[in-house]
Amino acid sequence: IKRIGLLTSGGDAPGMNGAIRAVTRSANYHGLEVVGISHGYRGMINKAFKTLESKDVSNILQQGGTILKSARCMEFKTIEGRKKAYDNLIEAKIDALVVIGGDGTFTGAGLFAKEHNFPVVGIPGTIDNDLYGTDFTIGYDTALNTIVDCVDKIKDTATAHERLFFIEVMGRDAGFLALNGGIAAGSEAVLIPEIPTSYADLKSYLANGYRKSKNSSIVLVAEGEKEGGAFNWAKRVEKDFPDYDVRVTILGHIQRGGTPSASDRILASRLGAGAIEALMDDQKSIMIGIENGEIVHVPFTKAIKNQKGVKQQQLDLVKILSN
Ligand code: F6P
Repeated sequence: IKRIGLLTSGGDAPGMNGAIRAVTRSANYHGLEVVGISHGYRGMINKAFKTLESKDVSNILQQGGTILKSARCMEFKTIEGRKKAYDNLIEAKIDALVVIGGDGTFTGAGLFAKEHNFPVVGIPGTIDNDLYGTDFTIGYDTALNTIVDCVDKIKDTATAHERLFFIEVMGRDAGFLALNGGIAAGSEAVLIPEIPTSYADLKSYLANGYRKSKNSSIVLVAEGEKEGGAFNWAKRVEKDFPDYDVRVTILGHIQRGGTPSASDRILASRLGAGAIEALMDDQKSIMIGIENGEIVHVPFTKAIKNQKGVKQQQLDLVKILSN
């Protein structure tokens, strides 16, 4: 391997820049060249290639977003699109690929690697933390801290007005941001897709807890939760408890931005260096992950298909600590 193509794809996540820096500098350290591909897989199809050198990645470790830009590319979902991308890589003498992204990115990478027998290594970069085989994904810690910061602020006004807030957070089909955001910010309940809460349970909690022992209440709702989101829950509660003062906040894309936390920068640095080591070791079609503090290699197929899951015990903790 001599020239490595590098791209970020799917939803951006704080810390992706740290991974770009680590891949570039580790590769250079080992005498390999890096070609930055902009706008994810679209850049592979459009030949948006530019050599990355050490100075190109200086001063980006602390920046959110991704200097390589990101996109979700429909054409790469087709065999023809992936063939075009392959031809362009060969023409540019790129002989391996590092992709930074989430499950959609790895699904495309897996297909591409198989169809063209091309070495591809993935780095988990998504705020959702929904990839199996890694304890953490790049961006999750920063997003979690953003959520906690926002909930703390909402709590001030919630308490001043003795209100009940439903706050919806991102996570796609996963509830990790809601669950751990709820634990860290001291919310009264969390509603997540992995372990659904019935409306009857929430109602009984509200009837018993809200306004008896609390002068405000926060319920964190994961966007992937199956009952229709924060507005829907709020509407039902308002109907059944007309004297409750209910408000809804959707945190939205604020969760994707900002300076990456120290943890995300360290994770990005370790995974980026790990990706280059894996390629030098002839590894293919794997995600570089972290488990119990150690770097691990997880086949794309496992990382995408297997479910990380949430333990009931974690959800119980929210209940215990909010009584
Ligand atoms: O995967 C990251 C994520 O922020 C999800 O939490 C969310 O569902 C989705 O991306 C939003 O995507 P977009 O930025 O394309 O609206």
